[in-house]
Amino acid sequence: MKKTAIILISLFAITFILSSCGGGSQTASDQSTVKATGPYADLPADIQAMMPRGEEIYKTKCTVCHQVTGLGIENVFPPLAKSDYLLTDKVRAVAQTLNGSKLEMTVNGKKYTQEMVPQVDTKEDAIAVINYVLNNFGNKNGFVTLAEVQGVEIKPRKK
Ligand code: HEC
Repeated sequence: MKKTAIILISLFAITFILSSCGGGSQTASDQSTVKATGPYADLPADIQAMMPRGEEIYKTKCTVCHQVTGLGIENVFPPLAKSDYLLTDKVRAVAQTLNGSKLEMTVNGKKYTQEMVPQVDTKEDAIAVINYVLNNFGNKNGFVTLAEVQGVEIKPRKK
């Protein structure tokens, strides 16, 4: 009689544990409407949705200098793959993509002094390509939103 009771209690406990595990992995970003699969699964839906555009911009505009691998060319074009400089400030990266950059910068211990001219004309394009960069080339570094770059000024183009 006692034995049956113990078996019943154990069964009940196992069922309870199994059923409570199922929904346990939900996070805030699961509110997305896009099905959470693939390399961008843990990003919010609106960020996932801009990845094809980001990839298109990267492949047409950035590879010539930063290379298909994102590794750049040492001491000439800085890397975007695992760039300590880029990851320090995502908003700055968006601003540089919009307005260009003419600084002496150190990226992963190497100096870069060449100028990059403005690459894209809208903040939407700039965050799309930077979000693509932040989640490719071995990077897994979150994302930047339009709201975060609200304060970035798009400087008038020369010529
Ligand atoms: C003609 C070459 C060229 C092209 C094309 C180019 N860049 Fe750059 N990029 C540079 C150079 C040179 C620097 C360093 C600028 C400096 O020293 O101020 C740089 C710096 C950067 C940086 C900051 C440094 C770092 O490694 O984090 C980012 C971010 C960046 N580029 C993103 C882009 C993106 C995104 C594109 C495409 C939309 C792009 N670049 C296209 C040459 C280029």
